[in-house]
Amino acid sequence: MDYHWYPGHMTKTIRQMQEDMKLIDLVIEIADARLPRSSRNPDIETLAAGKARMILLNKADLADPEGSEAWRRALEEEGLHPVLIDARKNGSLKSLTPMILKACQEKIERDRRRGIQNRPVRAMVAGIPNVGKSTFINSFAGSAAAKTGNKPGVTRGKQWIRMNKQVELLDTPGLLWPKFEDQEVGKRLAMIGSIRDEVLNTEELSLEVIAFLAGNYPGKLAERYGVSEEEIPADVLTAVGRRRGCLVRGGEIDTEKAARLLLEEFRAGTIGRFTLERP
Ligand code: G4P
Repeated sequence: MDYHWYPGHMTKTIRQMQEDMKLIDLVIEIADARLPRSSRNPDIETLAAGKARMILLNKADLADPEGSEAWRRALEEEGLHPVLIDARKNGSLKSLTPMILKACQEKIERDRRRGIQNRPVRAMVAGIPNVGKSTFINSFAGSAAAKTGNKPGVTRGKQWIRMNKQVELLDTPGLLWPKFEDQEVGKRLAMIGSIRDEVLNTEELSLEVIAFLAGNYPGKLAERYGVSEEEIPADVLTAVGRRRGCLVRGGEIDTEKAARLLLEEFRAGTIGRFTLERP
């Protein structure tokens, strides 16, 4: 991940998005299903003003199904047409077209009243880094009918992926930036590995994960590592290190190594499926 969000970079990104907005009907926002709030940037409201909207909660394979369902309902109520997906799997994308058409119903009806029929919906994907924008577009393109080149009247160089007669997708995603104003947001994004571990160091971050798991998903750490969750996080980490044979010369526990292992397994879904925040 090599994004550093300084003001100049943001201005350029915003300008690009504003240009692309002129070409599309629908903004498909992608968020991480484990962090449906912190992995979004609220500035999308302004950027996507006047456009139809929907939101994909991606990496649903890593999120707690109960948490995902709670978020799906909450976002549905906001009128955001949420869909839970695993962008790596084509199958979960098939059901998207009806939802896309639903999100764009107003536009489709407006077209119809003007006598325009069967004009495909044009959509753009947007989201902060690492939520799965490229993976989604690749999966979408993989199952798409065709890639279309430059179209008359469309900015040169823009590629459209033609999903079917009804939907076309801009092949370059809109890049949003993480909203770090709240420290908690940075911490949570670091926990799922979405930003580099610069907010906290590896060991501190792993202690946050331990505290989160012990508090919200009791039994999971015990199940995976055979450790007692009653201890303070630092002692749990040491116990994980002992269990997993993370040792430095002389037989001491290598807590740094244990922390890396724990974070890796937490992020990969090996310990379980977790949702880090609730609606
Ligand atoms: P971006 O364009 O929004 O920056 O995200 P990108 O598609 O590059 O995806 C970021 C990482 O998330 C990738 O992993 C990708 O494989 C993974 N990913 C995307 N969608 C899903 C999903 O639905 N479920 C899961 N479990 N993972 C997903 P990576 O570690 O960067 O690469 P790799 O290890 O997959 O090669």
